[in-house]
Parts: sequence; structure tokens; C-alpha cells
Amino acid sequence: MSASFRVRPATQADGAFLADMVVEAANWRQGGARPKHQIMTHPDHNRYITGWMRPGDAGFVAVDAQDEAIGAAWYRMLPRTEPGFGYVGTGVPELIIGVRPIWRAHGVGRALLQRLCDHARSSGFGRISLSVERGNFARQLYRSEGFAVTEAGHGRDTMVKRLR
Ligand SMILES: CC(C)(COP(=O)(O)OP(=O)(O)OC[C@H]1O[C@@H](n2cnc3c(N)ncnc32)[C@H](O)[C@@H]1OP(=O)(O)O)[C@@H](O)C(=O)NCCC(=O)NCCS
Repeated sequence: MSASFRVRPATQADGAFLADMVVEAANWRQGGARPKHQIMTHPDHNRYITGWMRPGDAGFVAVDAQDEAIGAAWYRMLPRTEPGFGYVGTGVPELIIGVRPIWRAHGVGRALLQRLCDHARSSGFGRISLSVERGNFARQLYRSEGFAVTEAGHGRDTMVKRLR
């Protein structure tokens, strides 16, 4: 039986929930939970969400039958001077994705990723990038959605999907 959720465009009001998803992404290892304030005060992490939503930001939120947010995927353009972990170049947006733990493995992440990539394509982007730590099963999801590793870093890889 498939659980009931839908995906809607993110709005400015989703900033606090997106911040929670940054924490989920940073804390993907079970048992490796760092407190939210520690993650969100670090520029490595808060640069994905500060000032949401800025011109050029785009995202989608998955909601349950009660319209509670359960997951989100979004992208933003980060400057060369303050790049994200998955920075590949100017003009290539970098994506972040997170799903609330109790909702994982129900197809929410894949649905969000597909909507976001479709949106990036129709917005005229040729590529979209992300960064994933080694060992995170999310890389199987990314690979099956057409992302390929372009750069191997220390414990994490940059993956890029061509959109056209
Ligand atoms: C990664 C994440 C966004 C995926 O979202 P999700 O809703 O759980 O994923 P889906 O249910 O759409 O599953 C997509 C694929 O992921 C894989 N997958 C999902 N759950 C898995 C699990 N527990 N173990 C191994 N693989 C799993 C499967 O390959 C699945 O493919 P399938 O559709 O053929 O079964 C979510 O698990 C999450 O928020 N994780 C913690 C934060 C994180 O790691 N973010 C990414 C940082 S780069």
C-alpha cells in the first residue's frame, strides 16, 4: 500500500521547514545526530537556506494528507566565493533534499527529486549538482535518477545530472 502524500511548490513560508531538512541531510548517519543549532550556525550548512527564498531559489515540499510538510528538495545558486559542497560552476544550481525519518523509503524523495529536476530543466538549466557523503544510500537514488559522480572529494562526492 502506498502512503498518501503530494508535492507542491515551496514558498517563502517554508524556510523553517527547509532548515529542518538541512539538519536531516547533515545528520544522515543514524546515531550521528548533531544538534540543530550547531549545524545551522555553520556556514557550510546555513548557506543552503539563509535568506530563503531569494531570486533564483526554487523548491518543492511534500505534504501528508493533513498538509503537514514531510520532505523537501530545493536548489539555489551559490557563488564561487562561498561555494556549497557540490559546487561545480557558475550557472549550475546545487540541490538539497531531506525527508522526515518516519516518511523515508515511501517514494517521497524520488518524487521530490523528479519534480525539482523537471523544474530546473524547464527553467533553462543544463545541469544540476549535489554533494553526497560516501556510504549514504541516497547515492543509489541519485544514480537511478541520472546523476553521475564528477568529482571525488574527501569522504564525499559531487554528482551532476545533465538536464538536456
Ligand atoms: C535520501 C532521502 C532524501 C531519500 O528519500 P526517501 O523518501 O527515503 O527515498 P525514496 O523512498 O524515494 O527511495 C528512493 C531510493 O532510495 C533507496 N532507498 C530508500 N530507502 C533506503 C534504505 N533505507 N536503505 C537503502 N536504500 C534506500 C532505494 O534505492 C530507493 O529506490 P526504490 O524506489 O527503487 O526503492 C531520505 O532518505 C533522507 O532524507 N535521508 C536523510 C537525509 C539525506 O541523506 N539527505 C541527502 C543528503 S546528500
